Amino acid sequence: MSNDPVVAIVGVTGAVGAEFIATMDRRNFRIGKLKALASARSAGKTLQFRGREIVIEELNENAFRDVDIALFSAGGSISRKYAPIAVQAGAVVVDNSSAFRMDPNVPLVIPEINAGRIRDHKGIIANPNCAAITALVPLWPIHRQNRIKRLIISTYQAASGAGAAAMEELVESTRASLNGEAYQPKVLPHPYAFNLFNHNTTVDPETGYNDEETKVIKETRKIFEDEKIAVGVTCVRVPVLRAHCEAITFECERPIGEDDVRKLLAGAPGVKIIDDRAGNYFPMPIDASGQDDVLVGRIRKDLSDPSGHSISMFVAADQLLKGAALNAIQIAELLPQRVMA
Ligand code: A2P
Repeated sequence: MSNDPVVAIVGVTGAVGAEFIATMDRRNFRIGKLKALASARSAGKTLQFRGREIVIEELNENAFRDVDIALFSAGGSISRKYAPIAVQAGAVVVDNSSAFRMDPNVPLVIPEINAGRIRDHKGIIANPNCAAITALVPLWPIHRQNRIKRLIISTYQAASGAGAAAMEELVESTRASLNGEAYQPKVLPHPYAFNLFNHNTTVDPETGYNDEETKVIKETRKIFEDEKIAVGVTCVRVPVLRAHCEAITFECERPIGEDDVRKLLAGAPGVKIIDDRAGNYFPMPIDASGQDDVLVGRIRKDLSDPSGHSISMFVAADQLLKGAALNAIQIAELLPQRVMA
């Protein structure tokens, strides 16, 4: 009998589910047994893991018996129902949905920022929103040296954040458009090929903010443990397959220059600077796809703030990796169940 943990993946057939498997494999995550869970639609199908065929099982209330670590990425309502059941059965849950992120009893963790919070968990650890992770990984080394008091983010978010079916819709609708054929959107609310639109989450009729924007604001405050940081966000879905980009402008308490930011970010964990002005080469989704790091470039003075306290930059990160599966696996790697195995 192996002492390595039994790991369940809930949503194994989804876009993030596939990356959980690939990321664990790539990082030699030790696993005694893998339980592959999805809906009844997928039950009985098989997948390959480390040279073995694994049969996908239907998620049900008995699925977590003997499970040590459960990685969830099947949407908020599945997490709300089944994460407590998994905890009851003795598993530690790393949840990629938004269901528990703002629960004061649930740590919201980006390991490069607040790995120490993992110790506080009571069974569930939440993986932050992908747009929040993408911004906060490179902002943290700055914030901890020279507090960011105001932050403005505009996102360019890929199809992957809306799941495998949305990625397929982008490909299919682009093909249809090139062939001059009509295409009826099924997953996203608007035509996706050669278009962009407000993030496909509910818009608050009072404030005009969509849910994604609200998540970024609240999660930034929780992860930075700074309730006073002022955050303005605009979240937009763009026709890119799997990496998010963000234009970020931030204002610090003390003056800050471009070179200060470059120094703080050079060698910062999870960050790679791509900032070639002569070659006009900066972070792009095509370069971020398949990469673990958040790419950071276009680091420059914010000319709208002559006081010298503000910087603008442009970032790109793989939504499925650092924005989801990689961050969750990094958390799971730090769990005592695994360290002691
Ligand atoms: P399935 O493929 O069987 O529908 P994505 O985020 O890429 O859209 O993937 C969603 C994941 O969540 C898929 O693995 C999907 O499984 C899974 N899922 C959706 N609904 C359920 C459900 N009711 N029970 C278990 N898994 C579900």
